[in-house]
Amino acid sequence: FAEDGSQLWLRFPAKNGISADQIIAKGNSTTLNIARKELSSHWQGQTVELRTDKSLKNLKDGYTIKSNQNKIVISAGKEIGLLYGVYHILRLQQTNVSTVNLNITEKPSYDVRILNHWDNLDGTIERGYAGHSLWKWEDLPNTISPRYQEYARANASIGINSVVLNNVNASPNMLREDYLRKVKVLADIFRPYGIKVYLSVNFSSPKVLRGTENSDPLNKNVQKWWKEKASEIYTLIPDFGGFLVKANSEGQPGPQDYGRTHADGANMMADVLKPYGGIVMWRAFVYSPSKDDRAKQAYLEFVPLDGKFRDNVIIQIKNGPVDFQPREAFNPLFGALRKTPEMVEFQITQEYLGQANHLVYLAPLFKETLESNTYSNGKGSTIAKITDGTLRPAKMTAISAVANIGEDTNWTGHHFAQANWYAFGRLAWNHELTSDQIADEWIKMTFTDNEKFVNPVKEMMLTSRETAVDYMMPLGLHHIFAGGHHYGPEPWGDYKGGRPDWSPVYYHQADKNGVGFDRTKTGSNAVSQYFPPLNEMYGNIETCPENLILWSHHVPWQYKMKDGKTLWEELCYKYDSGVHKVRDYQKLWDQMEPYIDRQRFDEVQSKLKIQSKDAVWWKDACLLYFQTFSKMPIPYDIERPV
Ligand code: GCU
Repeated sequence: FAEDGSQLWLRFPAKNGISADQIIAKGNSTTLNIARKELSSHWQGQTVELRTDKSLKNLKDGYTIKSNQNKIVISAGKEIGLLYGVYHILRLQQTNVSTVNLNITEKPSYDVRILNHWDNLDGTIERGYAGHSLWKWEDLPNTISPRYQEYARANASIGINSVVLNNVNASPNMLREDYLRKVKVLADIFRPYGIKVYLSVNFSSPKVLRGTENSDPLNKNVQKWWKEKASEIYTLIPDFGGFLVKANSEGQPGPQDYGRTHADGANMMADVLKPYGGIVMWRAFVYSPSKDDRAKQAYLEFVPLDGKFRDNVIIQIKNGPVDFQPREAFNPLFGALRKTPEMVEFQITQEYLGQANHLVYLAPLFKETLESNTYSNGKGSTIAKITDGTLRPAKMTAISAVANIGEDTNWTGHHFAQANWYAFGRLAWNHELTSDQIADEWIKMTFTDNEKFVNPVKEMMLTSRETAVDYMMPLGLHHIFAGGHHYGPEPWGDYKGGRPDWSPVYYHQADKNGVGFDRTKTGSNAVSQYFPPLNEMYGNIETCPENLILWSHHVPWQYKMKDGKTLWEELCYKYDSGVHKVRDYQKLWDQMEPYIDRQRFDEVQSKLKIQSKDAVWWKDACLLYFQTFSKMPIPYDIERPV
């Protein structure tokens, strides 16, 4: 195997698999042939029969696996289910699980399991940390990189079935005919792997590309343009998935430019896609400079529109109401829309989590959101159940995440960032899997099944998100990143004359009395957007979970925390413990040298070194800065900032 990480988790045994007569399957579609090839190249167990069975249609992309000593039968309503079943047994084989006497039924949690690439047409990636874009727009449609297929295979192996190719800050050019021809080539490569292509679209496209007088969604010429564009797209790509739209957010154009609503804009697009079965994923990440709390804006804009959207529109909502912070309260819009389907947008690319330098395993963050109880329908109204159709029967269900993939040999920049791509796919398929199960599988597939490696490395992964929170923004602090690149700390950032809602000082509000953003009744009252009892719970400093206390309260420096320390001391100990945990990871990793290859060992070791230095940087910068307000001493038993 290449030890450069290019194989991802797909490191099946290099030896030959079973022979052709041990693979029983009718038909000759490309999808089935891929399944056959995977088996004949890698499967070393029983005879495998692949059966399409129309009665299993209700499993959607799912499948059943039944086996005895001699034979495995994989059945599915659709051929793609058979390919997923093949990857399932290969995963079992690779993680050393017996494949005898299997009786498995799998049905995905979500219909649309989608990666959002924030890739630009010039090859750069917004918040991309693994090199340039995988899509070589200049070379397409003629020159085809072999990585397109490898990418599709990797996604199929974990059940990802949809991709948005371009940045939400979309160039209108994406919809030009020459680019659509390039998109078609990718769609054709992805199709046999069960992957549909979607595009981010710029709301002003008709005006920019065709010169319509405006892009008002109620303008007949504008509607006609979109209708013709849809027809052009579907002629090239008959199974095109639909549009992702960022409108009236961060300066992007949108229906509000013409006095129309998000519903007017979304419905216009939904109508042109409807005849072809396409959907609109309309983003709720909307905010503009305002005196009010940015965290409240999505709720304020979207709740009044509930019920006004077409049934092929789904509202795509970031997990938190601010912006992919190390920890945020969940977005109060979840559950608040009762008649409109909602989907989560996670961020795999670690914009606010050390980018491609820090080892931060994100499954615990994803799970924290999915398992959050919104109380929209009483107890048990988790975000998972609101979005997967359990509590809100929906025509379609979906889950998305911003991809961390680039042209780097190892795809994601950091070897451990591959685990976040993997974890998103596995959770999109089955949101009940635990972070532990997913890490376990991934480590065994990617590195080794030697327990001396698996157990400590898994422990490191499982604690890594909390560790990052501790050394960056403990106790509910948020958005104190350096402006622009969002890599290091800049709690002192005060963009006077610029956008206050982009200034760190706006988010932490530190002064001589205390620190934290008051979102209670005495402040922005954002907590009132949560259903009871959460509004009360977050609103009361005594009941607010301590890991979010500075998210919703301005807390006095002397405030007594549950463990008896003052807030100031607690902050100091949290930062310090984050630093120590990263140093522990370094020591732990050093012990792992005997179990894996040199290249990946070295590369991870040097990334941990950066992470460790960065953790100290975060701690020193934040504590020294906040100390100018608290005027309290750094506790004697933690490392002095230098
Ligand atoms: C963040 C990110 C931007 C991105 C935006 C979005 O603000 O920093 O780069 O465009 O989110 O999700 O639209």
